[in-house]
This record gives sequence, structure tokens and C-alpha cells, in this order.
Amino acid sequence: MRTVLGARLSVVTGEFLTFGTDEVLNRVDGNPRIALLGPVLNYEETRALVEGLSERYPGVGLIVVREQRSDLEDWVDELALHAVLSPAATDETTMELIDRLSAWLISTGHAQESDFEIQDVPVTEFAPTSEPDPESFEALLLGDQEEEEPESFEPFEYDPLTEAEPDRAWAFPPLDAGSPTEAIAVVAPKGGQGKTTIAINLATGLAEVAQNSVVLVDADLQFGDISAALGLTPERTIVDAASADAGDELVLKTTLTHHPDGFFVVASAPSPDLGDTVDPRALGALVERLRAYFRYVVVDTTPGLGEHTLVALEHVTDAIFVTNMGVPSLRALRTEFELLSTIGLMPANRLVVLNQADRQSGLSIRDAENIIGAPIDVEVPRSSAVLLASNRGVPLIHDDVRDPAAKAIRSIVMRVAPDAFPKRSRIHRRRRSNEPE
Ligand SMILES: Nc1ncnc2c1ncn2[C@@H]1O[C@H](COP(=O)(O)OP(=O)(O)OP(=O)(O)O)[C@@H](O)[C@H]1O
Ligand SMILES: [Mg+2]
Repeated sequence: MRTVLGARLSVVTGEFLTFGTDEVLNRVDGNPRIALLGPVLNYEETRALVEGLSERYPGVGLIVVREQRSDLEDWVDELALHAVLSPAATDETTMELIDRLSAWLISTGHAQESDFEIQDVPVTEFAPTSEPDPESFEALLLGDQEEEEPESFEPFEYDPLTEAEPDRAWAFPPLDAGSPTEAIAVVAPKGGQGKTTIAINLATGLAEVAQNSVVLVDADLQFGDISAALGLTPERTIVDAASADAGDELVLKTTLTHHPDGFFVVASAPSPDLGDTVDPRALGALVERLRAYFRYVVVDTTPGLGEHTLVALEHVTDAIFVTNMGVPSLRALRTEFELLSTIGLMPANRLVVLNQADRQSGLSIRDAENIIGAPIDVEVPRSSAVLLASNRGVPLIHDDVRDPAAKAIRSIVMRVAPDAFPKRSRIHRRRRSNEPE
């Protein structure tokens, strides 16, 4: 939508529904003339938003983005919607629908020409003459559109080295760059926040300053996916590495898989039930043993604070906490901090990473920090290069050096190892598929 509508689009994310419809409506900017209600909303949520929008912005055009389903016609009738747009609609179809609705709103006096111009137009004086008549704008039921590659948002201008504001009373001090950093756990209370992405790239970056003295442990015992994301085919896994036999140095080394960028991987269990056989204490012992041989041990974890993750936290010096900008994730992170402090398991150094940062989320960085109750140390923007790198089995910081997310992740590496500044000779930048040979 951002690509298609540019500055004309204003977004309120669904997370605010947690606090009720009014919280969503209060975040609507200006005087919108068309509202698109997203596909994840249920009937009740859609109804409440439709009513609230029509009351606050009389004459607003209402489009529901929803798949063609048997109850769709009821929605259109009962909610007096102007149109329905398929979530899979092409950009052209989307624009065509919006243009048609705009033209109709103008012709019926519900909007003015200037409301739909690209410049920022003050539209506060708009007063509708009558309620819209949904019957006269034929509801467009658009189904069976061809699936499109989802477009990523344009990454916003980003400076990874910008400092957090200095004079706020934070619950936690920022990571001390000068402190010894040997074992680093990457944790998050919720899944899918970017732990694995950060763990892989941290190990890759650290390997530039400590070649072959870095080990990346996939302690996401049930669904670990580091080997796949790095294109490795491990012969042994964490099940072997955490077994009693691996107390022997030579045996331990046979359980590691080498990555060509100069680090080792302890692969995740081959199946979730085998993962379950790993005793949490054995995982703790494994981290300790690895610390005897490697300068840096990076531990990727399962979401939440299960026993394995708690034990891992007991054996590390640093923790990197990852969250996205969703209110539920931010709140969960605050709870996680409180819990870890209470039980005395907060590692000495901690770094808070806001991943998939997005200026369109409706939250500012300051809002996010207030919810977490701690400063955000690094913001990693949302970038399609992350998925591309993972699908290609290459660490992002070596796949696309100039990508804003890669630069931000590089700054995490530099917080852990300040000398990990990218040096040309160390970066074997691989050609992206759209670049000439
Ligand atoms: N900055 C980003 N921009 C765009 N996509 C991202 C970004 N960070 C992570 N992703 C994508 O989000 C998804 C989840 O990331 P990742 O696997 O690193 O998270 P995770 O916390 O390890 O998840 P899980 O809890 O399932 O282990 C992946 O598809 C990844 O490519
Ligand atoms: Mg993961």
C-alpha cells in the first residue's frame, strides 16, 4: 500500500486493537476520505471500526480487504461498505478501485479533488452534505487475483550509530562495550522476532575478528533452523554435542559443523522429540565447555523462558533481547526483564534490539522504549534483504553489505566486539542475483 499510495497513506496497525477500537480511531491522522480495513479483522472489529470511522469522518469511503467468502455479501450489506478488495489484488486493481471510489466521493460531494492530491492538504473544513449511499457505488467483489510477490516497505533513513538519549532514568544500563564478552545468548519472549537472523550474523561478524574462534549454538531445540539458513548439512547435532561422550575435546569437535566464513555451528536436533531429550543442565555444561575453546559462543534460543533458555542465560555473559514493534511483543519483553531481574538471571551485559523497525507502525521509538521500560540500543529496519539472504543460505552481512538492516546488524557486532569494523578484504560480498556478472 505504501508503494502504491506513497505519502497519501497513513497506517494504524492492528496491535492497537488490544486496547480497544477507540485506541485505533484515536491514531487516525487528519481527515481520511477512504479507509481500508485489513484482512485480519473479524466481523465485530470491522463493524466497530466502520461505525467509529463513519461517526468521526462522515462520508468516509469504506473498503474492506478480505477474501471472497460466503458471508461477504452480508458484510457488505450490514456494514454499508463501499467496496471489497481481495488481499491478493494487484497494485493496478487496488489503485483502480481507490480511484473509482475517490471519483465517486467527489461526485457525490463527500470529498474534494484536493483530498486525493499527493501534497499534504489541510482538509479540516470538509463538511459532508449527506450520508453516502452505498447502493449507488457498486460493491466490487474482487476475487481470484493472481498472487503477487509482497513488496517490502521502503527502508527509512537509518543511522545505526545514533545514540539513545543520555539523560533518561533507564531500568538497565546499556551494554558496556569494553566488558569481556564471550558467551552471548540471543533471546526473545515471542517467536519470529529475528533471534536467528541476529545470531547468525553476529557469529559471522565476530568470525571476522576471531577466525574459527566463534561457535554458534542452535539451542532452539525443537525447531532450530540455523543449518538450513546457512546451507549447511550437519553430520552431528546438539544431541551429540550435549551428550556425556562429548566431555572429551576430540569428540566435542566432531559434533561441530564448519562454516566457510570462519565459524562453527552446533546444529539443532534433527527432530523435535530428539530435541526434547537434551537435558537443560547438559546444555549449560555444553556452553561452558565451548567457552573453554572459543573466544565467542553465540547461543540462539527458543522463544520464551523455557528451562533450556533459562539455563543458557545462566551460562552467558551477554544477552541480546530482540523484539519487533508490536505492542504485545514489547510488553512481553518488559515482563521478561522483570522476571529475569527477580530470579537473578539477567546477564551482566544486555542489548535491546528493535528488529523490523518500521516508521509506519504507529509507534515511535520513544513509545516502544516506554513500553519496554528500557532503552533500545539498536534499531534494525525491516528489509527484504533479510529473507533473500536467508533463502540463499548466506549471512546477510556478507550477502548485502550496504543493506540498511545489514548495517544495523553490523553495529550489533561492533557493540560486542568493537574491532569488528568491516574491512574490505574480509568481506566476500556475493553477487546479488540482479547484478551483472
Ligand atoms: N529486519 C528484518 N526485516 C525483514 N524480515 C526480517 C527481519 N528480521 C527477521 N526477518 C524475517 O522474519 C522471520 C523471522 O526471523 P527469525 O527466524 O530470525 O526469527 P526468530 O526469532 O529466530 O524466530 P523463531 O522464534 O521462529 O525462532 C524470518 O522470515 C526472517 O527472514
Ligand atoms: Mg529462530
